[in-house]
Amino acid sequence: MSSTTDASTGRAQISARTLRTDRWWLPPLLNFAGLAAWVAYATVRAFQQDNYWVGEYEYLTPFYSPCFSVGCVPEASHFGQFLPDVWWLPYASLTLPFLLLFRLTCYYYRKAYYRAFWLSPPACAVAEPHKKYTGETRFPLLGQNLHRYFFYAAAIISLINTYDAILSFRTGIGLGNIILLLNVIALWAYTISCHSCRSIVGGRINNFSKHPARYKSWVFVSKLNAKHMQLAWLTLATLAITDFYVMALAAGWISDLRIVG
Ligand code: FES
Repeated sequence: MSSTTDASTGRAQISARTLRTDRWWLPPLLNFAGLAAWVAYATVRAFQQDNYWVGEYEYLTPFYSPCFSVGCVPEASHFGQFLPDVWWLPYASLTLPFLLLFRLTCYYYRKAYYRAFWLSPPACAVAEPHKKYTGETRFPLLGQNLHRYFFYAAAIISLINTYDAILSFRTGIGLGNIILLLNVIALWAYTISCHSCRSIVGGRINNFSKHPARYKSWVFVSKLNAKHMQLAWLTLATLAITDFYVMALAAGWISDLRIVG
């Protein structure tokens, strides 16, 4: 080990926090602002228990799907009602935790929030304020390894969102249908681009030429995977826009732009 390296941590002994002179702090700052704003909006909406369903056009916001509470409008509950109607329990509280865990354990979001919220480290070649670094080897970060299972849950929930979007076409076609549809397309692209999906599709194969279908799927998933960060942000945007549009319609602030019916 060189004399300019701290033997206990393996880190260079430089008193300056960083020698970087570029605006390294901008991406973590933007990530902090974007993620904090989204979480604040989603939390308010999830607990609002109102303006989530437009009966006339059968639009259901993804934040309330599937609507399992006995407080849900019966027509909005496509899969039954059995959760108690209490203020502290979101109507879709059976699925929202899995979506949250799916995103929390996502490889991209980990990078984003480790840097933006925990400053661990805030950027490449910028020292972190923490004295100890244990990585993801201990509880609770050891749980990040469960990501693959949350991927399966998220895929099922994307199917449910797709079902909701398709059902809404029974009433005709309006801007709301298009927004719901674009949202599920984006959700599928994000879900399929998951790193776990890529290893599930193409992993444990010694010879791709003997598995042409899996090879083709792996190539497809790999292409999407290269855009995983962009898809992660795109889906936050489409989810918020979809929810806001449904809320605005349900609250009577605007009316749906109808194309057919
Ligand atoms: Fe991001 Fe799986 S790695 S969703």
